[in-house]
Amino acid sequence: MVLAPIFSYAQIIKIYSERQPLLIEPLLKEFEEKTGIEVQWIYSQQGLVQKIILEKNRPVADVYLSSDISRLIDIAEAGATIQLNQDFQVPSYLQSDDWVGLTQRARVFFVSNQFANQDLSYEDLVDDQFKGRVCTRSGLHPYNISLFASLLAHHGEEWLRDYLTTLKNNLARKPQGNDRDQVKAIYAGVCDISIGNHYYYFQMMENEEQKKWLEKAKIIFPNQTNRGAHVNISGIALLKEETREISEQLITFLLSDAAQSVYANDNNEFPVLPTIPVSSQILELGGEVIFDDLELSKIAENRSTVIQILNQINFDG
Ligand SMILES: [Fe+2]
Repeated sequence: MVLAPIFSYAQIIKIYSERQPLLIEPLLKEFEEKTGIEVQWIYSQQGLVQKIILEKNRPVADVYLSSDISRLIDIAEAGATIQLNQDFQVPSYLQSDDWVGLTQRARVFFVSNQFANQDLSYEDLVDDQFKGRVCTRSGLHPYNISLFASLLAHHGEEWLRDYLTTLKNNLARKPQGNDRDQVKAIYAGVCDISIGNHYYYFQMMENEEQKKWLEKAKIIFPNQTNRGAHVNISGIALLKEETREISEQLITFLLSDAAQSVYANDNNEFPVLPTIPVSSQILELGGEVIFDDLELSKIAENRSTVIQILNQINFDG
């Protein structure tokens, strides 16, 4: 008996992804077509770090795609990552032995129109002009922990404690919701300034209801007159030695010019490759953005101190 040939992939790569399907799916499809490696993936915004750590002695997934540096560091510190053997063509502050950045995202301000023309820095959030006018999501969200960890690196622990205490006093309401909810609060007149990731601006522009909020809220890249805006990364880490080769193929693919352009243009993130232009939408916002080039590993070291201070002053309470 002759069996009809059935097409099947010779190899499979299993991915745990915290990145949203909409963005990552077209890229992964292309990876399959290019390499003949089948991609199987699980998407979740919560719980993947714990899952990876639980599974670390018998990893189920080959790689982890994270939307934040903290989670990459969490799994690295738990010993659940495989060391990378090669240096990738991204700036050194965007990679380590345990992970590589794939895109950069800036932590920005959204401000009510009256502040739209000010040059503002993170340090200005504690100014009297913002008393009772600041909105943010939980201080303990990884995006904020990373930002505060960068402030700790620049100013020291005592400074940060004072800063967060004053910032808490400047809040218009208890930390709540996500980054976009804060822009809605500016629209509603609850606050004048909020902290959020830059790409949400473009996501809101594409949403009928949320676009309205931006009539009363403008985006500002902080610290442009000094060290630059704090950047976080989305990134990738390897979880399994046996499949290192195909996992490294995926990294190489996601760092290719073509994939970096997709990231730049589809989600308006900043490419990690300096040679890839930012999206035209970002350019329309005013051109070049200056980034803080603080080593992300410094942020890693400072996270536990930040969490301790936030808890001591009951920042979210
Ligand atoms: Fe996000």
